[in-house]
Amino acid sequence: MSHWKMDCDADGYVWLTIDVADKSVNVLTHAVLEELDQIIGDLVKQDNINGLALLSGKPGGFVYGADVRQFELLKDAGAVADHIGSVHHTMNRLAAAPYPTVVGIDGVAVGGGLELLLAFDRIIATASPKTQLGFPEVGLGILPGYGGSGRAYRRVGLEQVLALMLTGKSINADKALATGLVDELVASESDLRGAAKSWLDAQNGAQNGIKPVRDMKPVPADADAIFKAASDAYLSRARPDHTPAPFAIMDHIRDHMTDPQAMTDAELTIFPVLMTSPASKGLRRLFDYQDKVRKSGRGDSGIKHVHVIGGGVMGGDIAAYTAMMGFRVTLSDQNADAINAAIDRARVLYERRLKTEDKIADALSRLAADPAGDGMATADLIIEAVAERVDVKQVVFRDMEQKAKPDAILATNTSSIPLASIAEVLEHPDRLVGIHFFNPMPVLPLVEIIWADTTADAVTTRAMQFAGQLKKMPIRCKSAPGFLVNRALLPYIYGGIAKMLAGTDADCIDEAMVDYGMPMGPIELADQIGLDVTHDAGVPLGIADDVAAALQEHIGKGNLGRKSGRGFYEWDGKKAIRPRAAYPASDAAALAVELLQPMISECQSAVNEGVVENADMADAGMIFGTGFPGFRGGPLFWASQQN
Ligand code: NAI
Repeated sequence: MSHWKMDCDADGYVWLTIDVADKSVNVLTHAVLEELDQIIGDLVKQDNINGLALLSGKPGGFVYGADVRQFELLKDAGAVADHIGSVHHTMNRLAAAPYPTVVGIDGVAVGGGLELLLAFDRIIATASPKTQLGFPEVGLGILPGYGGSGRAYRRVGLEQVLALMLTGKSINADKALATGLVDELVASESDLRGAAKSWLDAQNGAQNGIKPVRDMKPVPADADAIFKAASDAYLSRARPDHTPAPFAIMDHIRDHMTDPQAMTDAELTIFPVLMTSPASKGLRRLFDYQDKVRKSGRGDSGIKHVHVIGGGVMGGDIAAYTAMMGFRVTLSDQNADAINAAIDRARVLYERRLKTEDKIADALSRLAADPAGDGMATADLIIEAVAERVDVKQVVFRDMEQKAKPDAILATNTSSIPLASIAEVLEHPDRLVGIHFFNPMPVLPLVEIIWADTTADAVTTRAMQFAGQLKKMPIRCKSAPGFLVNRALLPYIYGGIAKMLAGTDADCIDEAMVDYGMPMGPIELADQIGLDVTHDAGVPLGIADDVAAALQEHIGKGNLGRKSGRGFYEWDGKKAIRPRAAYPASDAAALAVELLQPMISECQSAVNEGVVENADMADAGMIFGTGFPGFRGGPLFWASQQN
């Protein structure tokens, strides 16, 4: 089936649309590109054409880019080079068409979609907020590979092309016009065809049908300063041994600043190397996990009113954030001061995130102090976040079930209590689900949605959807000790502590994991979490005696880690005081492999025991929940690549 439709009108203009009947044209699959190549090949042979116009046949959408998943099927750098070589051939022929060419878009044109636009002489876009243009490739560990780098550079110049390619962020229609990425804006999709025709008419009138020549933006005299500023702004947190793409992009642009076509041609050499690099493989896994996890939380939970019990660290944040995201929230706590403190913290959160007075007032109006817990009677979802004690939780749930509507979901934020122990006291345990947020809740994306054998599937699904509506990353987990994240993270931390007790320097352990890509190593992480929490959370999982004793000794002295200013390290506010010394790279790499073993093996057994659905979800959980480096693709994916 052809993905393209083509008509030729009386003026000699060829009108091309991407056929909307086939959803796959949201991305440029290899089949779509091959057909385009044939079309362009046929068109260049005809001599009665006065112009070519491409319009999206899909209202509100254009092209989301190349089909990333198809790249997985290309087995090596040579196959990647062959593929992009043939796309370059198509795009170069399109760019060199002997008549004026114009493209009109309404909606998203990013990655390969933007590269397709750039092969046209003129780009017209709607001023709609849906119109977004960008190069997200850096986030996948690559650079544009369908000829877009040099063509974008020719249009927007050095500073803007660096911003586009290094941030990966899309820009809207106004910004695209201001930077020269597009040439003209129209009000709506229905204006695109007319605007394209007017331009073709103008070219065929005054210009006699001669193709316009686009001069490149001049190389700025202060190019070095622009590179330096871009490096400071976009690369300061990147490391070439972790994610080589942004550094390769910098070099690519610097090397071909005077010749945009050479820049485009050089993609053929660099792109296959980056595409087959371990970092790009890992980042493509991450992209895939994000997609799968978001889809698993899609849909309307039907929840409008949420009641939260317990306004402490977690409950307060859950209530505040949930109201910020548009839900009506009531908050109860046995201690009225805790409710007031939670609402004060909510105001701070809203001021930081929502900025305008109207929005702040709106969010605050959705969050109500409810010391008597009256909201329980009308809530669609009740979330318990009281102390981590089974007897306390049982009392709360018994009362909750009496007061709740019959179809309300009853949820716990417990991090370690088996759902079965709470379900014991319920008449309808099918309504009970765990919604395990992480601390700090407004910041961390992962939510473990915990189900027990008693939990109704529909309840788990609605909890997943609720997390999706909060714009979080929900992962379904069976109620088993530590769920996924604590089960895999704590043994890794304990392993690090055991290594330290066996004589390896703490700083050396932590540096090995920072070198690997973790935000911090296991010893510093224990201090950061708090040594008391690190100890207590592991009790249901089992802690080696020497590790438990070391933790207890510190706890006994009141040295709880960052929060008390001293733990395994001394702390200076938010920073652990440690040498951060340089250790031989091969030693550090070997140490990282050893330290990761407990995490890898726990992730694997969580998969084997059905705690998570599959290895991808285990990897996703560790990336979204613990800061495990995305470019490694998750512990299980990384381990699978090591032999
Ligand atoms: P917290 O001690 O800061 O807050 C608990 C709040 O519950 C207090 O304000 C207390 O007054 C209130 N409370 C206690 N018993 C109550 C009752 N019977 N009725 C009404 N209110 C009651 O505790 P935190 O840290 O917020 O933990 C709450 C839950 O969240 C626990 O189950 C914990 O395991 C879980 N959790 C904690 C995380 C953390 O990092 N703090 C992370 C993820 C889960």
